[in-house]
Amino acid sequence: MFGEIMNTNESGKKPHSAEYFGEERDYWWNQDFLELMGSRLCLKEAKSILDVGCGIGHWGQVLTPYFAKDAQLVGIDREQEWIEKASERASRLGLGERYRYQLGDATKIPFEADTFDLVTCQTLLIHLKDPVVGLKEMLRVLKPGGRVLFAEPNNFARLTVASNLSKELPVDQVVERLKFDLIVQRGKEALGLGFNSIGDFVPGYLNELGLRDIAVYLSDKAVPLFPPYVSKEQQASVNLLKDWVARGFVGWDRDELFSYFTAGGGRRE
Ligand SMILES: C[S@@+](CC[C@H](N)C(=O)[O-])C[C@H]1O[C@@H](n2cnc3c(N)ncnc32)[C@H](O)[C@@H]1O
Repeated sequence: MFGEIMNTNESGKKPHSAEYFGEERDYWWNQDFLELMGSRLCLKEAKSILDVGCGIGHWGQVLTPYFAKDAQLVGIDREQEWIEKASERASRLGLGERYRYQLGDATKIPFEADTFDLVTCQTLLIHLKDPVVGLKEMLRVLKPGGRVLFAEPNNFARLTVASNLSKELPVDQVVERLKFDLIVQRGKEALGLGFNSIGDFVPGYLNELGLRDIAVYLSDKAVPLFPPYVSKEQQASVNLLKDWVARGFVGWDRDELFSYFTAGGGRRE
């Protein structure tokens, strides 16, 4: 799976988020939670949908059962390779007629104002230097009375939960690890590469931009990982972790991590 998608682009670098588009991404949500969201947010009313920063299409595709059967979706991403992969995936899923993908920048969306009934993104705002610019663009292309739907994380909160599983480690070591992650997160933001825990801020930004009917929900997804790891979901997670461990990869590659850490005020030594 990873071998299939981890090509490098013209600059010799892997396309954005290449390490995160494996099989485990299919298990990010509980289906019944999405169904509930679909009905709460009246997703079936949308006939035209924009998925911003679509990657290889997971988000729009995972929401498909909750969209109207005749809804048309456009996905945009700034990576050509992802556009191709997203189109291939949509065809494989029988969505090729209704879902199309094209190059596009979230901060300069290549559509006219008032085009879409629903504008959505997942883990895109965490990568924007100025997320408000992206949000304004998404609101610009939204039809009056349309809806926006953002699925954005607080990744630091997730790390504090993970640290609970290291309870045999000395407290100082756990705190050091969290401190390290905070420095890295702040460094990434300082370099203009986005804030990885932006989720909590999005409702406030929307309020400042004049939206009034704002609702916030927390995904009820937990990631179960316990022996003998037999479910497809657990196998996908275990395979990802094994691959990362084998390559000494920790969510970022070493150079990236070092640049974020030092930009966040971490010392070289
Ligand atoms: C973490 S991935 C999320 C992909 C997809 N939304 C999903 O959840 O599967 C972030 C995606 O945003 C894209 N991206 C980052 N900055 C962008 C920008 N300014 N305009 C368009 N796409 C962008 C990246 O290329 C990458 O595919």
